[in-house]
Amino acid sequence: MAFKELVFSGVQPTGNLHLGNYLGAIVKFVELQDSHDCIYCVVDMHAITQAHDPNQLIANIREVTAAFIACGIDPKKHIVFNQSQVAEHAELAWVFNCVARIGWLNRMTQFKEKAGKDRENASIGLYDYPVLMAADILVYRATHVPVGEDQKQHLELSRDIAQKFNNDFAESIAAHGFGEGFFPLPEPLIQGPATRVMSLRDGTKKMSKSDASDYSRINLSDDADAIAQKVRKAKTDPEPLPSELPGLDKRPEATNLVGIYAALSGATKDQVLAEFGGGQFSQFKASLVDLAVAKLGPIGAEMKKLSADHAYIDSVLRDGSARARAIAAPNMKAVKEIVGFLS
Ligand code: AMP
Ligand code: TRP
Repeated sequence: MAFKELVFSGVQPTGNLHLGNYLGAIVKFVELQDSHDCIYCVVDMHAITQAHDPNQLIANIREVTAAFIACGIDPKKHIVFNQSQVAEHAELAWVFNCVARIGWLNRMTQFKEKAGKDRENASIGLYDYPVLMAADILVYRATHVPVGEDQKQHLELSRDIAQKFNNDFAESIAAHGFGEGFFPLPEPLIQGPATRVMSLRDGTKKMSKSDASDYSRINLSDDADAIAQKVRKAKTDPEPLPSELPGLDKRPEATNLVGIYAALSGATKDQVLAEFGGGQFSQFKASLVDLAVAKLGPIGAEMKKLSADHAYIDSVLRDGSARARAIAAPNMKAVKEIVGFLS
């Protein structure tokens, strides 16, 4: 069965939105608006899988929403909402809990990283996180999912769940007039020079919201001074920049900064090296500061302004949630019929 193309993605409201979130995900969210119908979700139910402060959570939900809009997502043409306002996500996640296998979840590397050594003490929600993520996507029968590299394994799990549901209930799906399969196998969109932005302090570690050092990341809320300081202090190596890509081998920090420059300027890494190769890092960093401040400065300012306007942000989320629910509800009703619930 051919599915109508639909884009879905989510960002957790866990604070410190950073350059990795922007280049790995949000920039693509913005681009896809021209070619697709898009649904962008603030995944607040994922944000409670680890300890959180309720007052901070509500502020973070508004901040991610404000960031989406400040970066150029149009909440009128597309859908922007927070997950917990659409109950069908949790409802479908339960059905998927009964489709997904324990063996599949045991392979999830993000759970292992987040749970750390004290796995017995992690929440069941953290373990089940990828199943809820599959429900997020599939409750809309979305076909394309723009994400950063770190979400690849979770997307594969979503495909496995969709496939197993289609197989397990094939007869019932056909009997209810849905043809070959009820769910599409959602495709990850992981592209561009910055699908994995690394820490500014250590080029082998992912830039992350939870890194203890604020110097490891550029936050979308950073002002020009903070951006300049962080880029200047970013770790580098003593060699000048190479003129061609192979010269970046085994130079994680240089590779990362070149990738960031490329992504922010809309160029390829080759083009960046053609321009800066042979020069000193200090010169390249000065240009990177100018570029980053020019691109991110206005976004940060707009984001701060919007997140303070609670009435506006909350109305965007309410409106988006109603429109999301209108798509999710009939899909969930069909799932109930397919699995044999009486309603
Ligand atoms: P999260 O903050 O975990 O909800 O991530 C939101 C989106 O940003 C997801 O699509 C992630 O894959 C993406 N992302 C997070 N960190 C990075 C990073 N360091 N580089 C590239 N993409 C990232
Ligand atoms: N797990 C994603 C992250 O940490 C966030 C997320 C939740 C998501 N549900 C999703 C991303 C659905 C894409 C589609 O980045």
